[in-house]
Amino acid sequence: MGIQISPSILSADFARLADEIGRISDAADWVHVDVMDNHFVPNLTLGLPIVEALLKHSAIPVDCHLMIEDPDRWAPAYAEAGAKSVTIHAEAARAPVRTLRQIRSAGARASLALNPATSIEQYEDLFPEVDMILLMTVEPGFGGQKFLDMVLPKVRRTRELIKGRDLDIWLQVDGGVSAETIERCAEAGADVFVAGNAVYGAEDPAEAVRSLRALAEK
Ligand code: DX5
Ligand code: ZN
Repeated sequence: MGIQISPSILSADFARLADEIGRISDAADWVHVDVMDNHFVPNLTLGLPIVEALLKHSAIPVDCHLMIEDPDRWAPAYAEAGAKSVTIHAEAARAPVRTLRQIRSAGARASLALNPATSIEQYEDLFPEVDMILLMTVEPGFGGQKFLDMVLPKVRRTRELIKGRDLDIWLQVDGGVSAETIERCAEAGADVFVAGNAVYGAEDPAEAVRSLRALAEK
């Protein structure tokens, strides 16, 4: 699939979300929507009704990142609503095999996210159930945080594990991804890049997406 960029609307103007997606639609592969419930993370953003509304206005596929306490209950509904990728957190899911399968049967890509301190090795048996692994490169909850270099060895190890099993699993990094850090992530084996502040903090978000892509493809 090559390099893909998924701008996070967490750093966009929440009062104008449809327009904000429009500003990156020509340049980005996905739009990343961060669902936070104030329990799994100490922040509250938006939920299913707003995602359903956004799906009607987005020209590009929606990549839903569920930072919620009960993904087993909610994740399938995001896929059924039309999100093309749904990510659940390993730390929160109680029945990840069932939930990932439900996401897939609803027609979305099933994805598993790991916080910075969660090791990948314990989730290797789940690899056949996932289309993407999201490695958090900040503690989840807020945009604009500093990239955690300590996650890079895990990015490398995850890419090796994927290669070793000959599976087609995308590897996403999320948190602090910018012109300063994206090359390190790509070099370590990431191929899908979430960027909030680096895109929506820029004067021209589409141009920011294009320059991030060029750096990752180097
Ligand atoms: C953080 C979210 C990220 C966030 C990234 O918990 O999962 O998607 O929007 O924002 P930046 O790129 O600003 O770190
Ligand atoms: Zn995210």
